[in-house]
Amino acid sequence: LLSKMTLEEKVGQVIQGDISTVTPEDAKNYNLGSVLNGGNSAPGGGKTASWQQWVDAADAYWRASTDTSDGGLGIPLLWGTDAVHGHNNLQMAVIFPHNSALGATGDADLLHRIGTVTAREVKATALDWVFAPTLAVAIDDRWGRAYESYSEDQNLVSELGAAILRGLQGVPSENEFLDQNHVVATAKHFVGDGGTQYGIDKGDTIGRLGDIKKTHAFPYRAAIKNNVQTVMASFSSVNGEKMHGSEKLLTDVLRREMGFDGFVIGDWNGHAEIPGCTATDCPESLLAGVDMYMAPDSWKGLYDSLLAQVTDGTVPIARLDEAVTRILTVKLRAGLFDAGLPSARPAVDRAALGTAAHQAVGREAVRKSLVLLKNDNALLPFNPSGHIAVVGEAANSMSQQTGGWTLSWQGDNNTNEEFETGQTIYAGLKEKVTAAGGTISYAKTVSALRGKPDLVIYVFGEKPYAEFFGDMSELVFEFDDGAALADLAALKKRDVPVVSLFLTGRPLWVNQHINRSDAFVVGWLPGTQAGGIADVLAADPNGSAVHDFT
Ligand code: GLC
Repeated sequence: LLSKMTLEEKVGQVIQGDISTVTPEDAKNYNLGSVLNGGNSAPGGGKTASWQQWVDAADAYWRASTDTSDGGLGIPLLWGTDAVHGHNNLQMAVIFPHNSALGATGDADLLHRIGTVTAREVKATALDWVFAPTLAVAIDDRWGRAYESYSEDQNLVSELGAAILRGLQGVPSENEFLDQNHVVATAKHFVGDGGTQYGIDKGDTIGRLGDIKKTHAFPYRAAIKNNVQTVMASFSSVNGEKMHGSEKLLTDVLRREMGFDGFVIGDWNGHAEIPGCTATDCPESLLAGVDMYMAPDSWKGLYDSLLAQVTDGTVPIARLDEAVTRILTVKLRAGLFDAGLPSARPAVDRAALGTAAHQAVGREAVRKSLVLLKNDNALLPFNPSGHIAVVGEAANSMSQQTGGWTLSWQGDNNTNEEFETGQTIYAGLKEKVTAAGGTISYAKTVSALRGKPDLVIYVFGEKPYAEFFGDMSELVFEFDDGAALADLAALKKRDVPVVSLFLTGRPLWVNQHINRSDAFVVGWLPGTQAGGIADVLAADPNGSAVHDFT
């Protein structure tokens, strides 16, 4: 195939654009190897899209890329999407707890099943490739992406990363591997994304290379052993060298030492961060070992500059051929050439989205992720037949419980009505209490709380954020003048037991909040299936735990 490709087809193959700037016609005319929908891109340009819109768009890009009427070879393009906690751009999908919550489960079998469900829902919308799992080892929780990391312990990251990978791509030794119900996955962001100084996103990971490899590269070994097909280069640097330009790490270490044989995808114009590069002109990145540029809005300029640089010898044709060969190999392994029109594929099925079985996996993950930090007088599990008051806007906010990378990039502008599966924390508690013959009320603020309940469940926490929007200078959730501290002080005056439920992407300093609570539970960012919280907090009629903390 490579020998039949024109230079233009080879250059186009190593470039990925975002669907918000690439029409199917563009994909054909520039022979693009791939498109992505970034966190804020859905077919049709809105925040979300119907299942039919996803499938129609997949058909349009597939038809354009496989069109040979212009004499081209018609190499099908690969469509990548983040799917970092379920198919998270979709309002019909099950959105799972974020990775810090999944790390708290420590349950590899569960992670495998989450991967299987995620792949099934991504394939149901005719997409082929997910930019997951994140294998970051988050050392400093001030990092805005700490919630995308399973743990600060590279062994746990390695075990859970390999488990979800085997669910996403399938088990390498079995027929299911890269079949119609599985996707091409991405180990990201290589290397040291979670180890930057002060937790600064896209910052500098400083230290002895041997130590950095032992910690931050360690989880990639298990991923490579499980045939991960792509690796995404990190925005960050190692000892001052930008990863997108590091031949030492992207080629010598990742390929020669670690044996990775898929292709390396760059991050969102990550190549532009190399000194001397711009988003539309950066041969250095290809030369260092990035095989495909993620050029969301810069793909046209990059195509022109790269074509010129291959022609004038700045980029040896051998290096371009090597990158193209790696991409074609992954496409062949994924069966892309035989897959046929997306809408005609058996796995492309609206009914596979957000099923009860898929929701049950999400609810199980929520149950197993909860962390109990305090439980005075065995307040939990509480008796659901009493009068329960739920307080705090976080108790009734799908947006806050799903966090970033949900429907939109930051996940901070979503209404409850925009989610077709799952329920809020309050809805889950109401279901449980009502079924037990109890009564339950909801108050957005403490001042709105009426009457004398037997128990207050107070829900508070971080507001949604993604990437550097979440970087903090301190690990303190809020200082003495914080709203949650004031609420807890006011609740103390009501002389009623308080269970605090803290929604957070990461461990934060909340000692004073714990001291003002009778029981304290970390709910992390549970996703859409927050009914799992009530499953653990509410007792059965005999007062025993139905699902205990694990
Ligand atoms: C973002 C993230 C990366 C993501 C990509 C596409 O900037 O760094 O994790 O896969 O862009 O959305």
